[in-house]
Amino acid sequence: MKPILDAIEASRHFDRGLPNAVYTEPGFFDWERERLFAPGWFAIGFGGDVPTAGDMRRVDVLGQSLLMVRDGDGTLRVFHNVCRHRGRRLLDEPCRHAAAIRCPYHAWTYRLDGSLRGTPHVGGAGVHQVEGFDPAGFGLFSVRCHVWCDIVFINTDGNAAPFESYIAPLESRLEALWGDEGPAALSPAPDGFMDMEVASNWKLAVENYLEAYHLPVVHPGLNSYSPLSAHYSYHDATDFAGQGVLSYRPALVAGMPPPSLPGWNTDALYTAEYPAVYPNALLGVQNDHFFVMLLLPLTHERTLERVALQFVGGASSDPRYAATRRAIREGWRSVFQEDVAAVEGMQAGRRCPAFDGGVFTPVQDQPTKHFHRWFAARAACD
Ligand code: FES
Ligand SMILES: [Fe+2]
Repeated sequence: MKPILDAIEASRHFDRGLPNAVYTEPGFFDWERERLFAPGWFAIGFGGDVPTAGDMRRVDVLGQSLLMVRDGDGTLRVFHNVCRHRGRRLLDEPCRHAAAIRCPYHAWTYRLDGSLRGTPHVGGAGVHQVEGFDPAGFGLFSVRCHVWCDIVFINTDGNAAPFESYIAPLESRLEALWGDEGPAALSPAPDGFMDMEVASNWKLAVENYLEAYHLPVVHPGLNSYSPLSAHYSYHDATDFAGQGVLSYRPALVAGMPPPSLPGWNTDALYTAEYPAVYPNALLGVQNDHFFVMLLLPLTHERTLERVALQFVGGASSDPRYAATRRAIREGWRSVFQEDVAAVEGMQAGRRCPAFDGGVFTPVQDQPTKHFHRWFAARAACD
């Protein structure tokens, strides 16, 4: 790993992009899981994936399997998706309204809070307890988590600074747009989810999201009403950067217009912002809807993009807005699909030994540079 870490460090000093190996080396993917993701906060799913008590969903990310559960009190919990007995993966398929988590191997049963409830036949046929084995010591391995704007963030090593300190700078930026009650006014749309898999390293999807430079070429439709000339970028915070646009026009959407966020800044009615929250949450903040794209790294060259839409109050599920929600969802789907070829093309380019990390042009590529510097700073701690 040392040569790659040295190359990352050199990229900082020579003002180049990250070296090819951080996109193409399978072994570096393991380094990222342990040294980049585990010590910080990153996103793995949505509260709307498990909306009611007893709902569960498996999340495969970074080569590990996790379990999101909505417990009986409505609290969302995250566990490692593994049985404490002989280590079978606990949950394969999502399920709804379960009373407990039951292992499919020997039927050990866990409460929704992760504690071990039942160990059938553990002391012999028909004997469900046994001397010398205390179930209290064998609850599920819990993962520290925090739900923000219905996004489930986790910290797998348990030692990161409080979530609030990670997200506070972004919150303060967004408050200038959507006011103090912004996120509280939103709710996830049950029909607003979509998944896409891309054949690329997760970082290239972040990099693509950070710039509007490709808009006229890759997104001619979007560029016709949200042109490059109306975009600006920001890259002065630690854990996020992004772009914004001054010409967002909600009325261009088909169907009944969805309601605006109640606290939205009236001086910025046509402003929308698109921050990438490092490492893997991409946000779209508009006055009539909010979207989130999570990047779930599956391997060093495969990434699952999961998108969820949120609307103000009843517009998230009211059938009268169904056509609007569909139009917005499909509009974003086609934009994100246009990005897939660009991102996959960059992954292919990273296999070229002549490519040296590229150049950050002074205006268009500064948010991308910010992400590379954020990444390199974490590698330097290793
Ligand atoms: S591995 Fe789960 S009950 Fe045995
Ligand atoms: Fe794009």
